[in-house]
Amino acid sequence: MRQKIVAGNWKMNLSPTEAHDLVAGVGAYLSGLINTPALPPNHKQHTVLFCPPSIYLAQVVQQVTALNLPNLLGVGAQNCHWATSGAYTGEVAAQQIAQTGAGYVIIGHSERRQYNHETHDILAQKTLAALTANLKVIFCCGEPLEVRNANEQFEWVGTQLTQSLFDLPQTAMQQIVIAYEPIWAIGTGQTATPQQAGEMHTYIRQHLTNQYGQATANQIPVLYGGSCNAQNAASLFAQPNVDGGLIGGASLKVPDFCAIAQALLTSDI
Ligand code: PGA
Repeated sequence: MRQKIVAGNWKMNLSPTEAHDLVAGVGAYLSGLINTPALPPNHKQHTVLFCPPSIYLAQVVQQVTALNLPNLLGVGAQNCHWATSGAYTGEVAAQQIAQTGAGYVIIGHSERRQYNHETHDILAQKTLAALTANLKVIFCCGEPLEVRNANEQFEWVGTQLTQSLFDLPQTAMQQIVIAYEPIWAIGTGQTATPQQAGEMHTYIRQHLTNQYGQATANQIPVLYGGSCNAQNAASLFAQPNVDGGLIGGASLKVPDFCAIAQALLTSDI
């Protein structure tokens, strides 16, 4: 069985106190939940991640470590630089993220592709830098509305994966998590239907299989992102190739994020 993940992408939100309260609230809820018979045994393979702004990484890692749920809770950054160090004012290196104790980094989010002009090639370099620092990569892909309207979403997403990831050797690919996030669904309230998500995730699994073979492709979690919330998470996670979610707005509220995490942890019942 492959790992399933719910990752909260906080983006550029929350004060230090709000960040603390969110992690404390979610931590307390999950600590209680895992001690109930409500969860299937294989929930132990699944992970709930907080991805705060990098200025909070050390604080969140410390808090998560104190919660002592090592297999369940983890921390990720939202971006890293491609270089190991140097004169890049304002940037953060993958190694520096790893040194906070965080284990993951989001790469290729559509907001960074749009506002920071991150190309396929830059994202390939960032992925390599992250893997070299022993971080797992949550690699984002997804099409804009005009591409979906032209029914070219599969080619679009396939190209994003091929161009940025498919030079990686098989062992490196096992450290990758894919997040399919249709741009028209991000922050809009217009969620992809379970069927739309399901068919894209099945396409992504096939695309990975064509390049890396079935065994490797079957190990790679493929998350859905884009207006995933407490109401629709369970029906999205019920799709056979949807292995969890990358959650923006709904990850900032304790009850919403807890409900989404619970939907994941109970999705194999
Ligand atoms: P959203 O954002 O859940 O607010 O749509 C998802 C994301 O951008 O990762």
